[in-house]
Amino acid sequence: MSAGPSTPSASRKRSRWQSDEEDNNEGQQLTINPVKRRIKKLNKDLASPPSAPSLPKTPTISRNPLHSVYVPPRTRHPPIIPSRSVYCYERLNQIEEGSYGVVFRAKEKSTGDIVALKKLKLDEEKNGFPITALREINALMTCRHENVVGIREVVVGDTLTQVFVVMDFIEHDLKSLLTLMPSPFLQSEIKTLMLQLLSAVKHCHANWILHRDLKTSNLLMNNRGTIMVADFGLARRYGDPVGIGGMTQLVVTLWYRAPEILLGAEEYSTAVDLWSVGCIFAELLLKEPLFQAKNELELISMIFKLLGPPTNTSWPSYSSLPLSKTITLPSPQPHQFRQKFQYMTTAGIDLLMSLLTYDPEQRISAEEALEHPYFTESPLPKHPDLFGSFPSAAAGEKKRKVFDSPSAPARAADYKLLTEFDP
Ligand SMILES: Nc1ncnc2c1ncn2[C@@H]1O[C@H](COP(=O)(O)OP(=O)(O)OP(=O)(O)O)[C@@H](O)[C@H]1O
Ligand SMILES: [Mg+2]
Repeated sequence: MSAGPSTPSASRKRSRWQSDEEDNNEGQQLTINPVKRRIKKLNKDLASPPSAPSLPKTPTISRNPLHSVYVPPRTRHPPIIPSRSVYCYERLNQIEEGSYGVVFRAKEKSTGDIVALKKLKLDEEKNGFPITALREINALMTCRHENVVGIREVVVGDTLTQVFVVMDFIEHDLKSLLTLMPSPFLQSEIKTLMLQLLSAVKHCHANWILHRDLKTSNLLMNNRGTIMVADFGLARRYGDPVGIGGMTQLVVTLWYRAPEILLGAEEYSTAVDLWSVGCIFAELLLKEPLFQAKNELELISMIFKLLGPPTNTSWPSYSSLPLSKTITLPSPQPHQFRQKFQYMTTAGIDLLMSLLTYDPEQRISAEEALEHPYFTESPLPKHPDLFGSFPSAAAGEKKRKVFDSPSAPARAADYKLLTEFDP
């Protein structure tokens, strides 16, 4: 859908979105009562008490079990109800077309609430509903938090390729804001934003979710000084045994990608998100991305230049990484943090270096970072209410400036483990 004509009748898709007749049909198509009945019956069967008290015994296996009888019945799953139709919303304007979806601003017809609708790109799908879309929805629902964009519901359009995630509308994304702001954020403001980001990341990690695409364009900010992590399209659960072939390395937008992923680590964990947080911290300070590399090799050499090449102490497992053999390490050099961030306090530099640490084992966690002395030294974090407000480009209040950061890696490579979010 293009940003083109805005009147309801001008575009076929737009007028269909507003048709109430088709709206009604949609609900019927999605009725899944037979499944609900089966699951209800199964739960009832499993929950019914044994007929007579007896010694503990092996559970009897029913003739057609839907899952192992050793697994307790799920009594607290959400009720299975059909999705509402996208016609419950009136489209206002297109906010952005990302790699994996188009985002619109819309109004809920019955309440007048302004929301953001992300239309998932399913048109070219040949393998059914993509696992990445399921992960995105599941991760958003799992990670509810004041600094994570709120998911309201998932609605459907005319065809099975029209699926929309409905979220709270947030006025800005941090990338556009940094581009449009006349002067950088103050230290006190950066502290507030970093505390919010770290508390969202801590919450995701505590809920076993890796975001895997933290960057300024995926951080939304409202006019009340609050940022929210968005775009969980590359998120996945961690902590489960990893399948053959390891975890996908095609994650995290290049400039924010941790060195262990760049060097082909088959398993990685929460530390990859903290590296991205380090890159975002630096971007807030510099008002431009830290590592604006054109490709992986250039990125590695930029990292080596800022941090100094890795050593046995700074990264003991470096030489065991698959791609380390293909890289010729430059001669040892000291890091360049002080030269690059001249006006930072020692505590600020220490936090930045703790986030941008080679060894994922030694890299600071979100929980530890929240306790860092940087946040308690002067100037103290600014109260969010004291932040200035800006015209919202997403609400059409000012023309958006196009920026040219690289896009998130293709998600097609991530089509494995359809069951990753299974309980
Ligand atoms: N809830 C929201 N409120 C306002 N704007 C939003 C919202 N969600 C997303 N956006 C805008 O849409 C853009 C793209 O959204 P999102 O990152 O979720 O999609 P994407 O297709 O995965 O993007 P990309 O691949 O470019 O990262 C965001 O950078 C932001 O500008
Ligand atoms: Mg995005």
